[in-house]
This record gives sequence, structure tokens and C-alpha cells, in this order.
Amino acid sequence: MKAKFFATTPIGIEDVSAKEILRMLGCKVDVGVGKVFFESKIEEAVYSLNLMARTLHKVFIQLCKEKFVFLDDLYRFAKNIDYTWFIREEQSFAVRSERVGVHNFTSMDVSRVVGQAVIDSFLESCGKRLKVNLDEPDVEIYAFVKENDFLLGVNTTGESLHKRGYRVYEHPAALKSTLACGMLQISGWKPEKSIIDPMCGGATIPIEAAFITRNMAPNRFRKNFAFLKLKIFEKKEFEEFRMKTLENEKTGDSHIFGMEKFRRHLEGGIKNAEKAQVRDSILFKLGDATRKVDYPDTDLDFIIVNPPYGVRMIPQGSPIKLYRSFLKTLKDVASGATLVLITAASRRFKKAATDANVEILEERKALHGQLRTTIFKCKI
Ligand SMILES: C[S@@+](CC[C@H](N)C(=O)[O-])C[C@H]1O[C@@H](n2cnc3c(N)ncnc32)[C@H](O)[C@@H]1O
Repeated sequence: MKAKFFATTPIGIEDVSAKEILRMLGCKVDVGVGKVFFESKIEEAVYSLNLMARTLHKVFIQLCKEKFVFLDDLYRFAKNIDYTWFIREEQSFAVRSERVGVHNFTSMDVSRVVGQAVIDSFLESCGKRLKVNLDEPDVEIYAFVKENDFLLGVNTTGESLHKRGYRVYEHPAALKSTLACGMLQISGWKPEKSIIDPMCGGATIPIEAAFITRNMAPNRFRKNFAFLKLKIFEKKEFEEFRMKTLENEKTGDSHIFGMEKFRRHLEGGIKNAEKAQVRDSILFKLGDATRKVDYPDTDLDFIIVNPPYGVRMIPQGSPIKLYRSFLKTLKDVASGATLVLITAASRRFKKAATDANVEILEERKALHGQLRTTIFKCKI
């Protein structure tokens, strides 16, 4: 059976996520803001995206996508939907809402109205009143209102997929794993090429690169996908799918380096890589990214990095000196390589790139949590 879907992504890399879905499911994908839309076979999309997508946060089965004028319209749309095919009579549900734009109602009103519509629709279909559980619902329905667009879907993921489950060491400025994968995609890196994150912190970028090299499902450690509670899915069928996926994992050569100036973070990164079961695919090194001699003695094809950009992590308060000297060092150790870098200090990075004669090939805005960042792709 086919269904319409939407998935949430980090804002700024929606096109990268769309390509990922196209590669995995072979379907046409439309791009929105922080969301992508597509149509696919239900099991194939839900099992493979939740287990293997590298840049998606949550995957939803789309229940409704309409234009509306009044709050009552949302009730009407939601009431017209059949919920009995995915919610069991004895299960509880919750509606989570998000609202963007100017309206004369709140997101709590959206949750209340849509929640009532779900209850009324279910009651009419099978004479049972569904229970509401806002803390731990069996089924989570997501309502998104933006200006006069209304989008409704059922969450098949649960908690966001960027939480991979390997972070035993929480770096204070960790990068979202999904953004790290977006940067790897943007760079054009392929596993046969060498790659370094010379300011690797908790090692998110090297770990995600190792997952790709070894064809490992990034969400292999998760047990609690939300779809397992939906009436239409069978745990046994998914377990068979998961086992088949794990059989495709590879071992073998990799050329992935992680370097970090502070021992505490380096050791944390190593612990994360151990937990992620890719420790043996990454060469870790204590070192300063602004010192030539600290780099591994090998040709470096790709540098993917999330350097410090705030006052919190840089004692002198401005990253420009660090960026300038880092780029100048890269000119010496990795001339001709591709650099992909994410920073919230974009103007300072651009200035440093000009000073170091590093060519910026592409730049795009991306949100990292609440932080406005830019992802730069450069030729060293
Ligand atoms: C934003 S954090 C990286 C976080 C990492 N991407 C993660 O997900 O955990 C930047 C890291 O760069 C390190 N760093 C700062 N200056 C450095 C330098 N000159 N050489 C190497 N590492 C440096 C910091 O110690 C910090 O761990």
C-alpha cells in the first residue's frame, strides 16, 4: 500500500535530504522549509528511512495537507480522516502542534480542536472513545499550521533520529549528527577518499563518516521507533528487515581522521566512537589544527569541520585569528582539498578565507538548533 509522507530535516539541507530519499526509495521528493514531501510504499518508507536515513529527523505519514481560513476548518479536515487503520481502540493518543504566522488562536487551540476531531471521528467509526495521554501517548499526531497551510501527520519515528544513541560523551558544542551527514553529502566525499575533522570534539563527523564507509545504519542502536505501536506494522517483519540491513554492513579500509586540541574532548570522542562500534575505523590524534606538524602524514582529500565560533569556546572572544591561521595551515597540508565548514561567525570566516586565499565555492544558510549558521564549501 502506498501513502503520502513528509519528513522533517535540519533547515538548510532539505535538498540534501530530498536526494537521500530519492536514492533510498526512488520516488519524487518535494522540498519545503525544514520538511520534505514524498509518496512511497508504507513499509518500505517507514522501515528504511527510520533505520537508515542519515539526514532526517522525523518521518510522518501524511494525513492531511490543506489550505484553511478558520480554526473550525481544522476540525472539519481532521474529523474527515479515518484513524482506525493505524490506532487500536485501546490505545491513547496526543496531538502535538506547531504554529507559524499570525493567527487569532494558539497552538494549544490547534491541539485541542484537532484532538476533539480525532476522538469524534474514531467514535463515529467504531463506537469507542480514544484516550488522550499527553505524556506518553501510544500514537502521536502532529499538526502544523503555517499562515493558512494545515499539515497533519502521524509520527512514525518518535524522538528525533539525530539522537543516534552513541553519545556517551556530551561535548558542550556538539553538532547534530544529521547536519554532520548533510555536510558530508555536500562535500562530495566518497569512502575511498581520505577525510579529516581537525577539530573533532565529540567526533560526530568522523563517526558518521565511518557509518557511511561501513554501510552501517545510523539508527541501528534505537529500539523504540514510534511506528512499532501503530496497528499496521508488525515488529517481527521489521526485525527481519533490520537483520537484513545489518547483514549489509562492511568492514575494511577507511581513511578517516579525527584530531582535537584538548585531551578531554579527544577522549570523549573516542568513547563515542567505541559506543558507535566504529572505533577501529577512525584514527584519532591529539593535535592543534593550526599547526602543520600535528596533521597526519598523508594526503588529505576532504576536511569537514565544525570549528568553535562563539565566545564560550574561544578565550580571546573572536574566532577570526583561529580561522585565519587554520586556513593558512590547510593551504600547506591539504592544498587542492575540499573543505566543508559550518559556522555561526560567517562574516569572520569569509574575511579569513579572503586573507588566506581560500576560494569559497558554495555557501548556504542552515539552522543548528536555534543558531543561524552558514555551511561553506571551499577549495583549499
Ligand atoms: C564546535 S566544537 C566541535 C564539536 C564536534 N563537531 C562534536 O559534534 O562534538 C569545536 C572543537 O574544536 C576544538 N578546537 C578549538 N581550537 C582547536 C585547534 N586549534 N585545534 C584543534 N581543535 C581545536 C575545541 O576544543 C572543540 O572541541
